[in-house]
Amino acid sequence: MSSRPRPGLALLLLCFLLPGSEQICPSVCMCTADTLSCASSGLSRLPRNMPSSPLTLDLSFNHMSMLVPRGFASMPRLETLRITHNQLTSLGPDVFYNASGLRHLDLSSNKLRVMEQHYFQGLWRLEELVLFNNQITQVEGATLNGLRSLKKVYFSLNQITDFPFFSIREHSHPFLTMLDLSSNRLATLPWEDVKALPGTVQRGLFLHNNTLLCDCSMYGMFWHWEMKGFDSLKDFYEDYMCTVRGDSRSIIHFLRQRRVFQNCTVGKSQSLQATVLLSNLVIFEGERASMDCYTSLGTKDPWYVWLTPGQGYMNQSATNDSLISVFANGTLEIPAARLNDSGLYVCTAVDQQQMVNATREFNLTVVRPPAETFSTGYTTLLGCAVTTVLILMYLYLTPCQCGCCSPPGPPADPVSIYSPVAYSGVPPAGGPEEQVLQRVQSRRVAFLEPLMIEQNQNGRTKGNETTLPVQWCWDNAVMNETAFLDGVLKV
Ligand SMILES: *[C@@H]1O[C@H](CO)[C@@H](O)[C@H](O)[C@H]1NC(C)=O
Ligand SMILES: *[C@@H]1O[C@H](CO)[C@@H](O)[C@H](O)[C@H]1NC(C)=O
Ligand SMILES: *[C@@H]1O[C@H](CO)[C@@H](O)[C@H](O)[C@H]1NC(C)=O
Ligand SMILES: *[C@@H]1O[C@H](CO)[C@@H](O)[C@H](O)[C@H]1NC(C)=O
Ligand SMILES: *[C@@H]1O[C@H](CO)[C@@H](O)[C@H](O)[C@H]1NC(C)=O
Ligand SMILES: *[C@@H]1O[C@H](CO)[C@@H](O)[C@H](O)[C@H]1NC(C)=O
Ligand SMILES: *[C@@H]1O[C@H](CO)[C@@H](O)[C@H](O)[C@H]1NC(C)=O
Ligand SMILES: *[C@@H]1O[C@H](CO)[C@@H](O)[C@H](O)[C@H]1NC(C)=O
Ligand SMILES: *[C@@H]1O[C@H](CO)[C@@H](O)[C@H](O)[C@H]1NC(C)=O
Ligand SMILES: *[C@@H]1O[C@H](CO)[C@@H](O)[C@H](O)[C@H]1NC(C)=O
Ligand SMILES: *[C@@H]1O[C@H](CO)[C@@H](O)[C@H](O)[C@H]1NC(C)=O
Repeated sequence: MSSRPRPGLALLLLCFLLPGSEQICPSVCMCTADTLSCASSGLSRLPRNMPSSPLTLDLSFNHMSMLVPRGFASMPRLETLRITHNQLTSLGPDVFYNASGLRHLDLSSNKLRVMEQHYFQGLWRLEELVLFNNQITQVEGATLNGLRSLKKVYFSLNQITDFPFFSIREHSHPFLTMLDLSSNRLATLPWEDVKALPGTVQRGLFLHNNTLLCDCSMYGMFWHWEMKGFDSLKDFYEDYMCTVRGDSRSIIHFLRQRRVFQNCTVGKSQSLQATVLLSNLVIFEGERASMDCYTSLGTKDPWYVWLTPGQGYMNQSATNDSLISVFANGTLEIPAARLNDSGLYVCTAVDQQQMVNATREFNLTVVRPPAETFSTGYTTLLGCAVTTVLILMYLYLTPCQCGCCSPPGPPADPVSIYSPVAYSGVPPAGGPEEQVLQRVQSRRVAFLEPLMIEQNQNGRTKGNETTLPVQWCWDNAVMNETAFLDGVLKV
């Protein structure tokens, strides 16, 4: 088909084809092989007798205020429909009847007000939905239901006050990677629903230039996203604002002015939990094992609960067991470790108000000392000497993988040997570490504001002897301590 058939040819076609043939290009439009462009044609309604073949139909810059039902049903191949810069205020029923081939739908710069749930029903192939610069105040809960192929949705520059985040779940929109809600009127968001969005959607969620209400759950969410390095925050750093106590005169850039959130002990959000992944601890039988409970919890006076492999839960008041003790500072100590003390030790530090927990884990492995065949008279002495030699060998001869190993502790204080090689700064690809990761991931996630505050005030705080490559984990992101502190100290 060529553009604008000559009138003679059209007449000829009319004579030989059925009356009302679909293949004629409407006079105000431009037709090419697969595109029908009726842009800037002064149209106030759809042209009659549009050809059935185009893949693309452009109706932008016209005066259409409504679309007739089944208006596109005669174009079964249609994949791209642009109706930008018109006067549409709503879409009636069946507008997209039999247009389920649509992949791109652009309705930007119209006057649409409410996204009703029937608008896009049946468009299960739709990949891109562009609605920016309308007057949308409300998006009904089921509007995006069934649009399984969606990849990008643009709602920017509207007046949306709430959005049905709950309708987007792990498997409902498997390809969705962009949800642009910037420049709207969102003040409070249902953060629980936002947190439950699939990771790929969170990564592509744009919320800048809304007048959010400053509060701790809001801040916690963004802080978390920033830690993960999401582009949405990097690219629009200056455009994230919130209003203090809803007072429209006090608007702050909350990624810059963080002092406002100093008192966010994250306590206001129940499900916040900080998880610190794990240290490996290898000791010889009979030695003292000492496991601290340093966590990210900045609280003055947390209490500690240890989950031990042998004795289940232990807290600090139930301590004077000669086999295992838990001190008031959270440290768990096994004066003389036995082989069967090996296992996973998990300390949970609980904020006094019990609003937030933080977890510290040790994988304790007790190994038999290699001196057993000697007669008992020498065992202790030789065992001690061999142990010391082994420790020294371990410390000096093990290839150092992290480049930040501290000199070994004094030999007189034997005990704890960490195993730095087990954690090399990259997410492990398999094996037990991955199991731990997975286990940790299945929990809800780390918000570490209290630590941040403490770091701000004191620089490095407690736990400064830990020059080991401790990893901090939340969700799927794994960061070593350096990276973590860099993030924190950016504040
Ligand atoms: C679309 O049109 C075809 C043929 O015109 C018809 O058979 C089919 O049922 C229609 N599909 C829908 C969803 O209406
Ligand atoms: C922010 O949103 C307002 C309307 O809500 C708009 O006028 C303005 O252009 C937007 N600013 C940016 C930087 O996007
Ligand atoms: C934080 O709490 C302290 C003590 O309760 C108070 O003096 C300070 O003003 C609070 N800071 C903010 C930003 O609310
Ligand atoms: C500690 O454990 C004892 C008994 O196991 C229990 O009665 C007590 O309430 C616990 N204390 C705390 C702070 O959980
Ligand atoms: C623990 O027991 C020892 C003796 O068995 C005793 O001397 C010590 O005071 C006890 N400590 C606590 C905190 O009860
Ligand atoms: C905790 O207290 C115990 C006993 O008072 C002490 O041995 C241990 O070193 C302390 N641990 C830390 C990390 O301060
Ligand atoms: C651990 O081993 C010791 C002997 O080394 C034994 O007395 C104790 O009962 C064992 N504990 C468990 C929980 O098996
Ligand atoms: C914190 O731990 C306590 C005791 O283990 C538990 O009851 C509480 O539900 C936990 N809170 C959170 C937010 O995980
Ligand atoms: C920690 O992470 C930073 C940045 O990701 C990296 O440069 C550094 O080598 C890592 N350190 C270790 C010990 O893995
Ligand atoms: C703990 O360490 C041992 C050996 O070092 C390993 O076999 C085991 O899988 C580890 N457990 C966890 C939970 O990482
Ligand atoms: C830990 O910090 C304290 C106080 O800042 C300091 O005295 C101590 O030497 C530090 N320890 C290490 C191992 O850096």
